[in-house]
Amino acid sequence: MSWHLDAVIYQLHVRTFCDSNGDGIGDFPGLTSRLPYLQDLGVTCLWLLPFYESPLRDDGYDIAHYERIHPPYGTHDDFRRFLDEAHARGLRVITELVINHTSDQHPWFLAARRAAPGSRKRDFYVWSDHTSRYAGARVIFSDTESSNWAWDPVARAFYWHRFFSHQPDLNFDNPGVRRAVVKVMRYWLDQGVDALRLDAVAHLFEREGTSCENLPETHAFLKAIRSDMDRRYGSRVLLAEVNGDAETVRTYFGDGDECQMAFHFPLLPRLFLALVRGDARPIIQAVTATHPLPDGCQWATFLRNHDELALSTLEEHERATVLDACAPDTAMRLHGGIRRRLAPLLGNDRARIEVAFSLLLSLPGSPVLYYGDEIGMGDDVRLPDRDGVRTPMQWSDDTHAGFTDARARRLITPLIDDATYGYRRINVAAQINDPDSLLSRIRRLIAGRRAHPALARGSIEFLQTGSDAVLAFARTHGSETVVVVANLSSAVRSIGLVLPAQTVGLPLVEIVDDVVFPPAAATPYPLSLAPYASLWFACAAAGAPA
Ligand code: NOJ
Ligand code: CA
Repeated sequence: MSWHLDAVIYQLHVRTFCDSNGDGIGDFPGLTSRLPYLQDLGVTCLWLLPFYESPLRDDGYDIAHYERIHPPYGTHDDFRRFLDEAHARGLRVITELVINHTSDQHPWFLAARRAAPGSRKRDFYVWSDHTSRYAGARVIFSDTESSNWAWDPVARAFYWHRFFSHQPDLNFDNPGVRRAVVKVMRYWLDQGVDALRLDAVAHLFEREGTSCENLPETHAFLKAIRSDMDRRYGSRVLLAEVNGDAETVRTYFGDGDECQMAFHFPLLPRLFLALVRGDARPIIQAVTATHPLPDGCQWATFLRNHDELALSTLEEHERATVLDACAPDTAMRLHGGIRRRLAPLLGNDRARIEVAFSLLLSLPGSPVLYYGDEIGMGDDVRLPDRDGVRTPMQWSDDTHAGFTDARARRLITPLIDDATYGYRRINVAAQINDPDSLLSRIRRLIAGRRAHPALARGSIEFLQTGSDAVLAFARTHGSETVVVVANLSSAVRSIGLVLPAQTVGLPLVEIVDDVVFPPAAATPYPLSLAPYASLWFACAAAGAPA
C-alpha cells in the first residue's frame, strides 16, 4: 500500500491526448488505446485534467455537472473501460475534485441566482450588496480579472469568485454545500479512482480581515473529508493544489491527517532559478525547508503542468532573473508566471532538459511528468490563455500528428507545426525506437528510479562538491544509498565529491547508463562532469538486501 510514496505520475488531458472517432477531440477510447505507451514509458499513475460536463471557458475547471462526463470525451462506460484497463495494467488514476467553484452554468448557480436572498439555494454561493467585503483577498488571475466580485443582474447582487468571473465560488459555510461536495467525492471514489487532486483548495472559506486563503476552517474541512474517505474507502489519496511558500504548503499535510500529497510549488521555480544561475543553492534551500513530512505523506514534484510556470514564491529579483532568461518576450508571460513548455523554457538544450528530468526523478517527492514533455514538445504563445501548452499530443508525423483520424476536419486546438517543435520533427514514433532519443532517456531514468526504492522513499543528505554549480545528494533507504551528482552549469566542472561514510569503498554503479565507476577508496572522490551532466550511483553493501 502507500502506492503514492513511490508513484511516477503522468499528467494528461483526455481532450488533447488521442481522438478515437475522428471528431478532432480527444476521448476516453483514444486514451485507453494509448495505455500501452504509458505503461512502456514506466509511469505508474495517470492524472487526468477535468473531464466533466463544462462550457470549457477554463478548460474544464469550470464544471457544469460534477457527475457527468463532457459528452465529446465519451460515455460513462468508456470511462469505466479506461479505468479498468488502466488498473489491469497496474496504473493508478488521479482525477480532479474542483470544489472551490463551479461554472456559472452549473444548476446550483442557475438556481441560486433566482432564489430568494438568504434561502438555502441562494446560499450555495457567496453574495454581497457591495464589493468592499473580503478586501484582503488578492486577485489571482490578475491579467484578466480586476475584482473578486462580479455583478449578477438576475440576483441583483455581487457574487464572489477567486478565479474567472464565470466561476462563482461555492459557500463552504453552508452545510448543504459541504454535504454536496462530499457526495461528489464519494461518487468518484465509488467509481474506483485512486486519488483526487483538490483544485484551488486554499480558497474554500472566506473570513473578513484575512487573505481568505489557508484558513483554519479549510484545514478542518480537509480533516473531515480525509477521515470520511479513510473510513469508507481505505487507501485512497488526496493531493492538494496549493501554490505557496514552504511553510504554507506543508500545513496541508496536517499531522498526516489532511492530504497525503501536495504539489511542491516551493521547489518548482527554484529548480529553474538553479538552472538559470548554474547554482545548486536554491534547490538545497527549497528541499531543506520542506522536509521531513509526516509519515505516509509525499510531495508531488513537477517541472511543468497545464498552467503557467508559477514564480510567485521567489523574491522579486529572483523572479526577474527567471523571467528574463526563460520568457524574454512578454507574450510568454501570464499572471506573473511563464506560459511555456519545458523544452522551450530550457532553450531546447537537450542536456539541460535531461538534467531537469534527472533532478525531478531523483529528488524527494513523487514526480509528475506533463504529457508531451517526454518528447520535448513545444508551445504556441499565440494561442489564448494557457492553451499554448495544451496542444494535441504528437504521436507521429502523419496528418494531424497521429492525434486523430486523417479525415478530421478540425482539431479541438491547433497542433504545434513550427520548424523546431512541429509534429513532423518532434513525435513519439520518431523517438520510441531510438536509444539516443529524449524519450528513451526518460524511460531509462524512470526505470532507474523504480528499480531503486531509495530514490522514492529514502532520506536525503546534501553532499559537499566544492562547487556551487554541482548539486550532490545521497538518498538512503534500508541498506541502499543512491548518490546523485548533477552539474547545473554550462561549463565542464571538476569536483571532489565528499561521499557519505557508508559508501566509501563500495563499487559505484551508475544506474541510468549502467556503467561501473572505480570504487571510492577515499573521499573526496574526484569527478569531472560535462555541462549539465548528471550521474546516479547505486551503492549497496555487497549481499545486503536493498
Ligand atoms: C487551478 C487549475 O490548475 C487552473 O488551470 C485553473 O484555471 C484554476 N485552478 C481555476 O479553476
Ligand atoms: Ca473524439
